[in-house]
Amino acid sequence: MSQIELRPGLADVPVAESAVSFIDGKRARLEYRGIAVETLARESCFEETTWLLLKGDLPTQKQLADFDDQLRHHRRIKFRLRDLIKCLPESGHPMYALQASVAAMGMFYPARDVTNEKSNWESTVRLIAKLPTVCAAFQRLRYGDEPITPRDDLDHAANFYWMLFEKEPSPAIRKVIDACLVLHAEHTMNASTFSGRVTGSTLANPYTVISAAIGTLTGPLHGGANEEVLDMLEEIGNIQNAKPWIDDAVAKKKKIMGFGHRVYKVKDPRATVLQDLAEHVFAETGRPKLYDLAVEVERIMTDILGPKGIYPNVDFYSGIIYQALGIPRDLFTPIFAIARVAGWLAHWLEQLVNNRIFRPEQIYVGKTNQAYVPLSKRP
Ligand code: SDX
Repeated sequence: MSQIELRPGLADVPVAESAVSFIDGKRARLEYRGIAVETLARESCFEETTWLLLKGDLPTQKQLADFDDQLRHHRRIKFRLRDLIKCLPESGHPMYALQASVAAMGMFYPARDVTNEKSNWESTVRLIAKLPTVCAAFQRLRYGDEPITPRDDLDHAANFYWMLFEKEPSPAIRKVIDACLVLHAEHTMNASTFSGRVTGSTLANPYTVISAAIGTLTGPLHGGANEEVLDMLEEIGNIQNAKPWIDDAVAKKKKIMGFGHRVYKVKDPRATVLQDLAEHVFAETGRPKLYDLAVEVERIMTDILGPKGIYPNVDFYSGIIYQALGIPRDLFTPIFAIARVAGWLAHWLEQLVNNRIFRPEQIYVGKTNQAYVPLSKRP
């Protein structure tokens, strides 16, 4: 008998020392490099927050201006990559397109030597700068439209909106998109970050690392939940149906999408900020009925499963905001990835500092010492 204790899902098992972000799951506290995420969503911007995550401290004015310049400079994608995206099936999920494109991107740039700090930084900038372009290009190409060229005179959030809709966002909408990117940029040792760190620990190139992390984010238990929340709310349909629908789902032990978290046993602080942001969006777009239904679902769920520590997570309100902005449902998780690439890369760079390949143990439960019966003697 093995003496090793199995912890399914590695619950409470540390897999690395990290200084990137911190969660207090009982006090609804999330900090990036020691700064509360609510403060960053309000006061900072995606570019500055990304620098903070990657470098450990807030940038000086010059550092931020230079970094912003580099990001703007690297937004365009090579025509071969655009052609590759064009060949992907238009019915395929944009997350698969993003994952495939990022993996392919690794073939365009020399990045195999991960001991080269200059090359690692160039890959970091390229990945952060190009993910929105790839996502927007797939969105256009799958409908037979030409991709919209990125604009150097717009910031990261406004340029992404521009590439999707060929119009500039209002200042309020720009701020909401930017704050959503900040809120999704990093979240300690979640599944996709761990996946990226595992891949990074083999000294694989950064494009492979990020493509592995994107693949992990696709699942409905992780980033994919934001799409499923809207499917669920539409299935519930109206406020009167919310209580019977939830009672039935809980009785059948179904997972309610957008609720529950391994670390938070209270409401995810990001969900609270997203609700504030939603009010700003609705001031321009009108208040969708789905939002009132979501608030009612939260109220009922808090009564039923709140005592078990199950509350809304980041995915519960994000989709409602994106839908109000006119963003297609299957782009919700790619937007998560466009933001989280900052955190993934911060963890990858951290992993490389004192790297040791991940190679955990298993508890073997199979047969041993079996005889080989030749095929001719088997029935
Ligand atoms: C993200 O880790 C991160 O940081 C991720 C993330 C990030 O920023 O990177 O925050 C982003 O992935 C958010 C999560 C999105 N997923 C969902 O909304 C899917 C629905 N939620 C879950 O399936 C679940 O809560 C998880 C996956 C988020 C957490 O899974 P755990 O920690 O393994 O918890 P569990 O499935 O073992 O549940 C523990 C108990 C169970 O009940 P018992 O068997 O003990 O009686 O809580 C119940 C579960 O049935 N439960 C739920 C529930 N979530 C947990 N019951 C109903 N609905 C739910 N959503």
